[in-house]
Amino acid sequence: MTEHFPLSFPADFRWGVATAAYQIEGAVDEDGRAPSIWDTFSHTPGKIENGDTGDTACDHYHRWPEDLALMGQLGVDAYRFSIAWPRVVPGGDGPVNERGLAFYDRLTDALLEAGITPFPTLYHWDLPQALQDRGGWPARDTAEAFGAYAAAVADRLGDRITHWATLNEPLCSAWIGHLDGVMAPGLTDITAAVRASVHLHLGHGLAVQAIRAAVPNAEVGIVNNLTHCEPATARDADVAAAVRADGHTNRWWMDALHGRGYPQDMVELYGVELPLRDGDLETIAAPLDWLGLNYYFRNVVADDPTGPPPRARGVRLPGVRRTAMDWEVHAEGLTKTLHRITDDYGARRLFVTENGSAYPDAVGPDGQVDDPDRTRYLEEHLAACARAVREGVPLEGYFAWSLLDNFEWAYGYDKRFGLVHVDYATQRRTVKGSGHRYADIVRAHRRRARGAA
Ligand code: IFM
Repeated sequence: MTEHFPLSFPADFRWGVATAAYQIEGAVDEDGRAPSIWDTFSHTPGKIENGDTGDTACDHYHRWPEDLALMGQLGVDAYRFSIAWPRVVPGGDGPVNERGLAFYDRLTDALLEAGITPFPTLYHWDLPQALQDRGGWPARDTAEAFGAYAAAVADRLGDRITHWATLNEPLCSAWIGHLDGVMAPGLTDITAAVRASVHLHLGHGLAVQAIRAAVPNAEVGIVNNLTHCEPATARDADVAAAVRADGHTNRWWMDALHGRGYPQDMVELYGVELPLRDGDLETIAAPLDWLGLNYYFRNVVADDPTGPPPRARGVRLPGVRRTAMDWEVHAEGLTKTLHRITDDYGARRLFVTENGSAYPDAVGPDGQVDDPDRTRYLEEHLAACARAVREGVPLEGYFAWSLLDNFEWAYGYDKRFGLVHVDYATQRRTVKGSGHRYADIVRAHRRRARGAA
């Protein structure tokens, strides 16, 4: 059955927008912040389109009151942002920087004042460079340092913040940062990548312990980018490639969190000894209150025997719609992935913590930003969520990626994901057509929820 607008969601469904520190804040050397691996990477010639960096980004560090007002305009009731480790503990471990924490303290108070629930993520890829210099995520000490940093943040903000996420998309940190070399720190080394993946998980588990110790009523989760993997053809080799792609993208990240250890087929494929000590698997599998899913596209793959792990290459299907990232638009994959997490991993509380699309928007002569492709993407994916809910998936909220156009990592500023357009020369913000549509959908939901009460 197709879902029709207005869509049906539980009355207390949360409507949010998401951002991440390095992508929007700028102010990279203010108030005691030290460089992160992304400062280093973005300043390395040839790594980022157009030589862009996050030095200024959306200048959110100074303009956050305006951005908060934009959230009010959109009518959202939840804001997922990330806390910059290099602002709070500039050396990675050791002294806490009061001025860094104070920024998030002010933001938290203002969000609560505006009736918007903060959903901070403790790590969205900006590892303090000082820790990278001592080995980065492939080194166990980084996981320990992450636990200590989590404790410092939870101690300071835990009297007001209930919803916490430890990591954002550890897959990207480990695989794209250490195996594909396209993200910071830019390595292409399977041993480093596998070690990083395990230490990211361990850091997550230690952070869960630290948050729970500091915040008795905390609701703690983790954010993974999972997706539906399909073989490009019915050939046995492609079917096996899809199983490997699923292991690389989904099972590696979910099995360990759910007390199943790491999938044996993938351990064999990677051929790297896991840096696990007694008790680590239990730490990694600490019970969670919720799971976050970031979903953008499905993964259609073919066998690639000589390629890097997982020896499966993405196939470009003809005749499908694509975003400016060249990602296929496939909303059905979102419903399927939500079911997968629920059915295979027994999820009891889920959020779509990111979903969105990049298109080359421009401000028109009338001052408006007309973005029908993004509006359609949004509507289709919200319908996919509504369908999952109707079919029994315990989905409690949706966060659009992103509030603002921002620094899209190796793609720089050309790829615009915002519901709000940013003119980087003037820092002028303009709510796009998709932003207005999102606000309408949120309002319609609230009207229905009130009517039903
Ligand atoms: O911009 C990123 C975000 O930082 C993590 N998830 C995917 C988004 C779009 O690529």
